[in-house]
Amino acid sequence: MPVFTDEPGPRVANITGQTALVTGAAGVLGVATTRALLDAGLKVVMADVSEERLRSLASDLGDRACPLTVDLGDPADIERAYAAIPDSFLPIDILVNNAGILSLNKSEATSVEEWQRSIAVNLNGVFFLSRLVIPAMKERGWGRIVNTSSLAAKTGGITAGTAYSTSKGAVSALTFSLAAELAPYGVTVNGIAPAYVRTPMVTEQLTETQQQALLEKIPVHRFCEPEEFAHVIRFLIDDLAGFITGEIIDQNGGLHFD
Ligand SMILES: NC(=O)c1ccc[n+]([C@@H]2O[C@H](COP(=O)([O-])OP(=O)(O)OC[C@H]3O[C@@H](n4cnc5c(N)ncnc54)[C@H](O)[C@@H]3O)[C@@H](O)[C@H]2O)c1
Repeated sequence: MPVFTDEPGPRVANITGQTALVTGAAGVLGVATTRALLDAGLKVVMADVSEERLRSLASDLGDRACPLTVDLGDPADIERAYAAIPDSFLPIDILVNNAGILSLNKSEATSVEEWQRSIAVNLNGVFFLSRLVIPAMKERGWGRIVNTSSLAAKTGGITAGTAYSTSKGAVSALTFSLAAELAPYGVTVNGIAPAYVRTPMVTEQLTETQQQALLEKIPVHRFCEPEEFAHVIRFLIDDLAGFITGEIIDQNGGLHFD
């Protein structure tokens, strides 16, 4: 836990050696985040449903990275996976709830299965995993939770569908609720609301015509890079960000202000 005094010298407490759990760690933003946290000297539990990709990534990243296979859409599997984290990667000091699935269908085209799976993975997974890490954070009086919301939570979805936009809106609301609850315990809970990061969610799930139209519309006329996303996570988990909680940082190239 950081202790700031009036003594001369740097006011930067060290997060090196702490442990982070990053979900969606086999995806583009999860990999960028994991690399940034490893570079900062942290240990990282890399959680994802994609077991094969996860294992190959983790073995390339060295022994400070620990793969953890989990289906975040299933609360029982979250409990099973959490109990399987090796002792050397506990307690979790920092949780980055980044896993998510995109769906593009608007309300009438959204199937029951699509709605339920979007809410299960994008929202319920964040809640049930957070609940498992919170007690140890409270006990130590320090913790960081960062949730990946989306610009779609604010706009209703420019290209994103109804289920996705709704799930991300709820992630923002959950961020505020947990932030209020955990502030007295030294645990900050923040979010990031990216839009159009150069990942398969953009390059494969959107048509070429949609991508070109977006590049015209985004004021900076480019897509966000995964490393820019990871940089915001790195900022939010720092000790010196401890006075920021309940904040959702927009990262949208000027597409939306509020
Ligand atoms: N790419 C963008 O432009 C963009 C914009 C706004 C928000 N986001 C959000 O950023 C996050 C990361 O997105 P990305 O672009 O890296 O996508 P991605 O598809 O590359 O990564 C998502 C990862 O989540 C994992 N995942 C999916 N379902 C899971 C489950 N049930 N249990 C565990 N893991 C599961 C996938 O296997 C994948 O590795 C998502 O929450 C997404 O909604 C992305």
